[in-house]
Amino acid sequence: MKILGIETSCDETGAAVIEASSKDKKVTLLSNVLATSLAKHAETGGIIPEVAARQQVISITPVIQKALEESGLMSESTPPVDAIAVTYGPGLIGSLLVGIETAKTLSLLWKVPIIPVNHMYGHIYANFIGEFPISNVKLPMSNEGIPKFPAIALVISGGHTDIVLLKDHGDLTVLGGTRDDAAGECFDKCARLLGYAYPGGPKISQLAKKGNPKAFPLPRPMIGSHDYDFSFSGLKTAFMRLTKELLPLERKELEHIKGGWQQVPLENTLSDSQKQTLYDLCASLEYAIADIVTRKVMKALGEYTASTLVVSGGVAANRVLINMFHEKINRSQLDVALVVPPGYLCTDNAAMIAAAGFYNNKHVSWEDVTADPELYY
Ligand code: KG4
Ligand code: ZN
Repeated sequence: MKILGIETSCDETGAAVIEASSKDKKVTLLSNVLATSLAKHAETGGIIPEVAARQQVISITPVIQKALEESGLMSESTPPVDAIAVTYGPGLIGSLLVGIETAKTLSLLWKVPIIPVNHMYGHIYANFIGEFPISNVKLPMSNEGIPKFPAIALVISGGHTDIVLLKDHGDLTVLGGTRDDAAGECFDKCARLLGYAYPGGPKISQLAKKGNPKAFPLPRPMIGSHDYDFSFSGLKTAFMRLTKELLPLERKELEHIKGGWQQVPLENTLSDSQKQTLYDLCASLEYAIADIVTRKVMKALGEYTASTLVVSGGVAANRVLINMFHEKINRSQLDVALVVPPGYLCTDNAAMIAAAGFYNNKHVSWEDVTADPELYY
């Protein structure tokens, strides 16, 4: 069967088509199209929901058209797909509604059912799409070429840092999550202090490459707690305090960017030795986040018998984190396969929504689909 996935929960407009076989349970990606309004939000220093929703309206039809074209389905006279999977939450209400209303219209027109998909499930199912061309990451291990159950899933993004036990499709138990900032949010807020726009994670990671990860002993909040919860706001505050102490953050220079003026990135105003301090701070932050996250996940892998660790969400694109998982799993003697999607499936996309729709196939009629911005798991 073919499924059209639609993702519009925040600032990305995604449409993708998968071909999935119920017999061998394999998902093949036929197309995966994404439009992002990120640049617009960089101008204002953050996502304005109204602006994001308007951009969704502009992008949704061309993005779906391109996804169908790239799958060779545009000229079909019969319905080009068998079902439409659409994100119904969590997310920004205005953005979600654009995807949902579009899905409803297509469902009515094509007479195909809708599968409402939880965005968080979607991130997990990014790991169930085909085989990934990442050389140093073990491929999915089961005979069917998909992650084996039971699995531990780490969903690590700008809004979530959750550890989830997956016994089967649709059988999820959340073991723990963040009590304040998410890991990605911690990266983003620290980067912002340094003058870098959202998303800050890749920028911190880039600066960290030239730094010493052990230069500054940043705190690891809740590392010894007996649960699977996280707290990143203390780490963020410690990073900010140290940065303010060690580097001159007051800077008046502004540079012109499209649509306005922004503060000159800190790096451009520093002496060579100050630059090294900046790199060391970023490396120490990245290392601290990876250390906290991997330690808690390893604890979960030790307590629950899991065949696979699946990591997803934007921060899964962080190589220091993934390499640390590799090292710790290899050292542990645990028989666990690590599965991480390629970067383009770590961040928000519609392919993961289509895959989650296939594996958790709950067809509903278009009248019964509503947005749920506060949805959890
Ligand atoms: O999943 P995502 O695209 O959006 C949601 O938050 O749902 O994740 C975005 C987050 C941002 O916080 C961004 O800074 C972080 O993922 N991120 C990274 C990297 N790439 C994206 N964090 C650290 N290292 C990266 N390479
Ligand atoms: Zn997301």
